[in-house]
Amino acid sequence: MLPQEIIARKRDGLALTRAQVEAFVTGVVSGDFKDYQSSALLMAIVLKGMSPEETGWLTEAMMRSGRIVELPEITRPKVDKHSTGGVGDKVSLILAPLVAACGLCVPMMSGRGLGHTGGTLDKLEAIPGFRTELSDAAYRQQLQDIHQAMIGQSADMVPADRKLYALRDVTATVESIPLICSSILGKKLAEGIDALVLDVKFGHGAFMPNEASGRELAEALVAISASMGKPTSALLTRMEQPLGRMIGNSLEVIEAIDCLRGEGPEDLMEVTYALCAEMLMLGGIHSTVDDAMAALKAAIQSGAALAGFRELIAAQGGDPRVIDDYKRLPLCESCCEVGVESTETMYVSGLDARSFGEAACLLGAGRVSTDSVIDPAVGLELLKKVGDRVQPGEPIVRIHYRDEESCAAAEARLQTAIHLASAAPSVGPLVVDRIS
Ligand code: URA
Repeated sequence: MLPQEIIARKRDGLALTRAQVEAFVTGVVSGDFKDYQSSALLMAIVLKGMSPEETGWLTEAMMRSGRIVELPEITRPKVDKHSTGGVGDKVSLILAPLVAACGLCVPMMSGRGLGHTGGTLDKLEAIPGFRTELSDAAYRQQLQDIHQAMIGQSADMVPADRKLYALRDVTATVESIPLICSSILGKKLAEGIDALVLDVKFGHGAFMPNEASGRELAEALVAISASMGKPTSALLTRMEQPLGRMIGNSLEVIEAIDCLRGEGPEDLMEVTYALCAEMLMLGGIHSTVDDAMAALKAAIQSGAALAGFRELIAAQGGDPRVIDDYKRLPLCESCCEVGVESTETMYVSGLDARSFGEAACLLGAGRVSTDSVIDPAVGLELLKKVGDRVQPGEPIVRIHYRDEESCAAAEARLQTAIHLASAAPSVGPLVVDRIS
């Protein structure tokens, strides 16, 4: 069938057959589907949707568009976590060594940040020497030796998503549940994992603007993944204010190490523990949340999780001395503090996560386009979180900056992102639901 015939079917609101979905994905990789034809079909999918069956076929075709990793030599349960992305979300850096210390193997393949959200690979690369590309042999050996690896997906894996995601980014076709499901799961299910835990974020700082849309995405992801034979659960988590207190690559590494030392901020640890407990249960290590939580807390208290992060850094060529000496990370010499003028004691009622992410981007911590160069040293430090009391003149954010111009731009963005009120706000739970 010609590309234009497949496009016309979807344009007219008809379901595609499995063969048509597969022809699209193989055509994207071979070039038989030209970019303008792929873009037209993507837009038709955004507007007309896809049935769960079509979404499943699309996910499978994406997964099979390149190399699929198999890890039969790994005897531990192999479980990964994926987050739909947020601001200050450094959970992966804490979670991988933590659940590895509790008996899982974590073959984590992550992405880079784009726009206001950060990426795990960028954070790890703030550590001097850290390599996020490993040969297949080195990757497998590392999983056998220390039960965790954190790398980028190689170019031969899920090539269809590489092409389609770039097109979606510039054709306003990212916001579609079937396209998001097939993109995320196509990549994750090619990793050779036994089970998957998803952190589906919703709110101003997330992809999904509200709880209802977050829930819809979480339910679709869990259903498609389970239909492909992977035990999967999702936590629905709020992303209204940044997670933790640090935004920016070196700063987030520091905060992750603090967490592994047992000195992490409450909100970040709440999400991390909840996701880790899900992983331990799906992996069959523990059967109750209480048992899983006890094991996780013991791994932090004993230092086993921190030792695991040290091993991970060393195994991937990084300088593990950063753990004991944060000055070995690239950091800024210049800092300034930002507050909001008031004459009386107030409470922080909102810290708009998206604007914080954009302010960090203006400093150089994130990418505006895929070829932007990241400065690992710059970022933002939240001195107050939502619900905290603020005395007149007290600062709320510390900006770590390289040059005055970017600092002024970030400061201007932050002025509209910080909200104060005369009474303490009521804050909803961070982990809103579990979907399995
Ligand atoms: N992340 C992905 O990998 N793909 C999407 O479509 C959206 C978020």
